[in-house]
Amino acid sequence: MTKIIDIQDKKAGTKLSKYLQGQFSEHLGTGIYGGIWVGKDSEIENVRGIRKDVVDALKEIKVPVLRWPGGWFSDIYHWKDGIGENRRPLFNTSWGGSLESNEFGTNEYFDLCEQIGAESYLNVNMSSGTIHEMTDWLEYITAPVGPMAELRAKNGHEKPWKLRFVGVGNEEWGEDGQMTPEFYSDLYRLWQCFVRQYDADQKPLFKVGCGPNIDDFNWTNVVMEKASQFMDGLSLHHYGLTDLWDKKGYATGFEPKEWDSLLYSIRKMDYFIHEHGLRMAHWDPDHRVKLIVDEWGDWLHNDPGTNPAHLRQQNTIRDAVMAATTLNIFAKHADLVGMANIAQTVNVLQSMILTDGKHMILTPTYYVFDMYKYHQDADLIEAYSDNGDPINYTISEKDGNYIVSVCNTDKEQSNNVTIKFAGKVNKPSYSKVLHADEIDACNTFDDPEHVKLAEYQDYQIKDNSLEAALKDKSIVTMIIPK
Ligand code: AHR
Repeated sequence: MTKIIDIQDKKAGTKLSKYLQGQFSEHLGTGIYGGIWVGKDSEIENVRGIRKDVVDALKEIKVPVLRWPGGWFSDIYHWKDGIGENRRPLFNTSWGGSLESNEFGTNEYFDLCEQIGAESYLNVNMSSGTIHEMTDWLEYITAPVGPMAELRAKNGHEKPWKLRFVGVGNEEWGEDGQMTPEFYSDLYRLWQCFVRQYDADQKPLFKVGCGPNIDDFNWTNVVMEKASQFMDGLSLHHYGLTDLWDKKGYATGFEPKEWDSLLYSIRKMDYFIHEHGLRMAHWDPDHRVKLIVDEWGDWLHNDPGTNPAHLRQQNTIRDAVMAATTLNIFAKHADLVGMANIAQTVNVLQSMILTDGKHMILTPTYYVFDMYKYHQDADLIEAYSDNGDPINYTISEKDGNYIVSVCNTDKEQSNNVTIKFAGKVNKPSYSKVLHADEIDACNTFDDPEHVKLAEYQDYQIKDNSLEAALKDKSIVTMIIPK
């Protein structure tokens, strides 16, 4: 088929916030220990204990914001055990119960953010922590002077760090809270009073309330009614599954029908954003409160031979197509979705990077973020995703260029796209494609470049239109000067 995209009369509208390309890193499996933190004495090249290869790769995709320390883990995390000389190891009872050294704590997280150039997004422990513990943490991070600033200086960091985003609780409706939306709303109203910035020169903190479990529209309705006046964002988590929760398929070696079922599942993001957005608009018609999709991605069966609690999964061209489709869905709802954080950056779920000892590989999903970074803070012209259509896309405008990303979700058929622009366009200054022949093509430590970006040349430009041929299961990004 040929899809005609006519944007001749379309004007640039909403900004495509860079925060839509955020990441999430939790203390889970080897997500932090091994994947990011190797320690200062490691043989693996590191800067103050943080892997250099991982930092270099993350800098390249311009990670705008990094959520930490969980997830479920945030519900058992007591930050004071993870600072200074004498750290108290902790049992990670959220994820398999292993004993963790706590060597990666607040100072190391902010160092990581600074090394990769990302802003910070802290999720505070509302389930087993206290307001006092949280206020000490916020003071430790942001106060220029005072007792917590002195403690921070004693631990090697004189100046306050910059903090903007704070999540108040995580999945409080689930295992770590069992709260009703009414109870959570009341608790949120109390806790948020003390979510304070201690540095008068910095902007007030952006407060994110705990949002619904997938399609729990009642949660959204109640929390918006009772507490939205005190929040800047409401979170939403949705993971793509190939089947029911307890029948998750594997990341590789799957049946062709599992491509379709995963695509069906991730496309529900469009529906969930729309439906939660309706409930939010009822209480907040101008969308002052943003939807913060701070956990999303494909959740597949853990790789054979790995610890099921560590959520380690391979990453294939299928995941790349799902990531591009999801980013296009976020772009479509850019007036409502203020941030999104894929789960998770390294070694966990739909990761950008996999490590094995000193070795590191980039996943197909990484390359999607590498292409989509050009949309960061661009002006949206049109984004499209529809369940019945194999093609979805984002077209934006920045610095006199069109940025065009198109995804062909069809696992077998190639498709064509014609885009009619408002005026004459020029030869692309950037033109890349991600494609693979097999449905589960992936990078391995033996074959680390099996799936990677290639120059894309299968197009023609004639005056004001672009005609592009898209291979099956492919994603293309082009920067086209006007
Ligand atoms: O990302 C893995 C887990 O998924 C998070 O810890 C939790 O918030 C969610 O259920």
